[in-house]
Amino acid sequence: MNIVITGGAGFIGSALALRLKSSHDVTVVDAFTDYYDISLKRKRADLLLDHGIQVKEGDVHLPWFKEWCKNQKFDALFHLAALPGVPKSLEDPHRYIQEDIGMTVTVLEAVREAGIPRFFFASSSSVYGEQSGPVREKDATGDVVSPYAAAKYGAESFCRSYQHLYGFDVTIFRFFTVYGPMGRPDMALDRFAKQALSGEPLSLFGDPVRDFTYIDDITQGMEQALEHGAVGTYNLGAGLPTRLSEIAERLAARYGLELVREEKRPGDVSLTWSDCSAAEAAFGYRPCVTINQGLKQVLSWHEQQIFA
Ligand SMILES: NC(=O)c1ccc[n+]([C@@H]2O[C@H](COP(=O)([O-])OP(=O)(O)OC[C@H]3O[C@@H](n4cnc5c(N)ncnc54)[C@H](O)[C@@H]3O)[C@@H](O)[C@H]2O)c1
Repeated sequence: MNIVITGGAGFIGSALALRLKSSHDVTVVDAFTDYYDISLKRKRADLLLDHGIQVKEGDVHLPWFKEWCKNQKFDALFHLAALPGVPKSLEDPHRYIQEDIGMTVTVLEAVREAGIPRFFFASSSSVYGEQSGPVREKDATGDVVSPYAAAKYGAESFCRSYQHLYGFDVTIFRFFTVYGPMGRPDMALDRFAKQALSGEPLSLFGDPVRDFTYIDDITQGMEQALEHGAVGTYNLGAGLPTRLSEIAERLAARYGLELVREEKRPGDVSLTWSDCSAAEAAFGYRPCVTINQGLKQVLSWHEQQIFA
């Protein structure tokens, strides 16, 4: 298949491109935005180029994208480009409307006009709001607690309305706290690994419990959904929540560091916990990387960066 990934120099997009490249023609598009260190995005893009993946630099929210898609004859589009992050969404909610809802509509329009038959969207566990236990896809009510989550919920609704109106296949993935090597520097595990290896105090906001999901499990799930022609909305999580303070305490003890406990940040939920039985039934999704195995990979990647 001829596949395009928006946000393909991002954490999840680049890992997905590397996974799909052995069976498909893959092109990634990325605007190299400055939400976090651009040099990390460049590093991922260089890795993709080394693997023969095409990397196109450009803003998919601009008119060129539609015209370009029309000429490329793509069989599937994965829309991962976004403005992520809960805390920033409280500072600048309008940007989240533009970039997480508006950009998704622009990309849906491009898919419609170019006649791309399959569209995959990266949504988030945040659409469930405050949880009290494992959640299934039908549980999302839009009772959300941050502008980021509201934007993802809104974008999901646009995706479904386009499927209804224009008949192309839409698959929505709700990711649960994805982590791994080359991860997003604003995410807790990545931040902890960097702080631990550079001997800095670890900072913990509140006492969140998270369904940390390793990047390889996520990209495997996405590939399985593509291969099985799965349509609909699916949780992609680990199904096994971990208290972040337990990880912080272990790292602080192991590296002899101070653990600074700060207030819970507004907009953060206390718990995320996926029930992934729908993804398992539809396309055989079975996450298998434990938090200990995954964390070792993250620490090892950060160590390599220090001594590179
Ligand atoms: N990482 C997680 O735990 C997680 C959890 C839930 C949902 N998600 C969603 O998954 C997707 C990917 O997340 P990620 O962690 O890889 O984030 P990321 O920030 O690493 O990747 C997003 C990429 O999109 C690019 N981008 C932004 N605006 C663009 C534009 N206008 N045109 C082209 N490219 C643009 C950025 O430069 C970036 O490289 C996002 O939609 C995110 O909201 C991620």
